[in-house]
Amino acid sequence: MKKFDHVVKNPMGVHARPAALVAQACTSFKSVVTISTDDKTADGSNVLQLLGLGAIKGTNLHITIEGADEEEAYEKLVAAINSAEPKSKKLDLIKIAFFGTKSYDRIFFSELSKDRGEGAYNADIKYFSTRLTEETASLADGYDAVCIFVNDDASRPVIETLNKCGVKLILLRCAGFNNVDMEAAKEYGMTVLRVPAYSPYAVAEHAMTIIQAANRRIHKAYNKVKDNNFALSGLLGIDLHNKVAGIMGTGRIGVCMANICKGYGMTVLGWDAFPNKKLEEDGLLTYVSKEELLKRSDLISLHAPLIMGEGGTHHLIDANAISLMKDNVMLVNTSRGGLIDINALMDALKQDKFHAVALDVYEGEDENVYTDHSEDMLSNDIVARLVSFPNLILTSHQAFFTREALQAIAAVTMENARNFNESLPYGAAEVK
Ligand SMILES: NC(=O)c1ccc[n+]([C@@H]2O[C@H](COP(=O)([O-])OP(=O)(O)OC[C@H]3O[C@@H](n4cnc5c(N)ncnc54)[C@H](O)[C@@H]3O)[C@@H](O)[C@H]2O)c1
Repeated sequence: MKKFDHVVKNPMGVHARPAALVAQACTSFKSVVTISTDDKTADGSNVLQLLGLGAIKGTNLHITIEGADEEEAYEKLVAAINSAEPKSKKLDLIKIAFFGTKSYDRIFFSELSKDRGEGAYNADIKYFSTRLTEETASLADGYDAVCIFVNDDASRPVIETLNKCGVKLILLRCAGFNNVDMEAAKEYGMTVLRVPAYSPYAVAEHAMTIIQAANRRIHKAYNKVKDNNFALSGLLGIDLHNKVAGIMGTGRIGVCMANICKGYGMTVLGWDAFPNKKLEEDGLLTYVSKEELLKRSDLISLHAPLIMGEGGTHHLIDANAISLMKDNVMLVNTSRGGLIDINALMDALKQDKFHAVALDVYEGEDENVYTDHSEDMLSNDIVARLVSFPNLILTSHQAFFTREALQAIAAVTMENARNFNESLPYGAAEVK
C-alpha cells in the first residue's frame, strides 16, 4: 500500500474540475484510491464523494493507493492533482445548450457546471430533454455551443440553423461523430470536439455480456424459471473455450474485447484497415484478411467506426459477408447499426444461420434510442421482427452506460468546452 498526504493549494479547494480529473485518473488503473480528510472519506474514483469531502484550500488530504499497479497509479494520480491547479485567469462564461439530456446526464454534468472562476470550467448550461433536430435547433439561439449525443441530428440543415443562432462549437458527449455533417461544420467554421475514449471496458464488457446471454439463452431461461418451468429444452449453448473469436476493428474497444475473449481461452483473429502490429507482437491476436476472419470465426464482434463510402464500413456485414461465415456462428455488434445490413441479417436469421446474435445497435434505431415507447403502438417493424428470434438479444445503445463511463464523459466534455473557451489545444478530441 502507498500512503501520502497532499495539502490542497487550489484557492477554490477540491472543486468540480480537480474532483473530475482525479476520479478520471483513478478509473484508469487497477489500484483502489481512498482520499480522506480528518473526518470524511471518499472513494477516489467517485466525483460526487470527492466533492462531498468539502476540502478547502489548506486541507490536508490523506491518500492511500492499494493494488497491483500502485507505482503507476501514484504517478497518474499526482499528475492529475497537479493538472487541476489553476493556470488561466480568463473568466469568460461559455453558454452551452445540452440536447437530448436524461436525469443521469444532469447528475454528472450539474456538479461540474457549478464550477466557476480561475482554473474552472466557467460554463453556463441549459438542459433540453428534446433531441437536436431541424425542428429543435433554434432552441440554441444565443448559445456559444451545443452538446449532443449519438441520437442527435447534426446534419447540414441543422448546422445551418445553429450557425444562424451563433453557435461556434459542437460538443459530442460520445466518441462516434457519424451524426455530424463535418463538411457543413467546416464550411460554417464550427469546431467539433468529442470524447475520444471514456471506458472501452464498458463497451467490450457489454459486448461479451449480451453475446453470452444470447449464446446461453439467458433471456429465455430467466422467463422460464419465473414460470416454474425448469426444463432445459431450448437453452443449449456453445463453449467459447478453444473457439475462434474474430475482432473487426482493433482499436481501444476491440483490444478490450480481444483480451476478454483470450480470457475465455479463445484464439483471437483481428481485422482492421490500420493493423496495430504491437497486438500481434504481444501475442493478443493474429491479423488476417476480412474473408479469412469471416470464414474462421465462431464469434464475430464488430468494433470499427461507421464510415460511409469506398473503403468504409457501411454494411461491412452484408449478405455476401454472412455467406462466408460458418453455420452456427455468433455475431455481436456494439459499434454502430450501419455496420450490418439489417435485411441481410434478418434473412440469414430466418434461415437459421446463426447460433446467437446480440445487437446493442441496429439500423433504424434512431427514433427508439433512449425513449420510452412502452405505451405506444409499436411502429418499428424491424424491432418487432428482431425480438421474435429466440437466439437474438437486443439492447438499446447501452453498452457505454456505466458509472465510470458517464463520469469520464462529463469530465472530458467539460475540459473540451474549457479548452475551446480559453483557446487551449484540443488534442485527440478534435474531429477534423
Ligand atoms: N454502443 C455504445 O454504447 C458505444 C460506445 C462507444 C463507442 N461505440 C462505437 O465503437 C466504435 C469503436 O470505438 P473505439 O473507441 O474502439 O474506436 P477506435 O478509434 O479506438 O478504434 C476503431 C478501430 O477501427 C479501425 N478502422 C477505422 N476505419 C476503418 C475502416 N474503414 N475499416 C476497418 N477498420 C477501420 C481503426 O483503425 C481502429 O483500430 C466507435 O466508432 C463507436 O461507433 C459504441
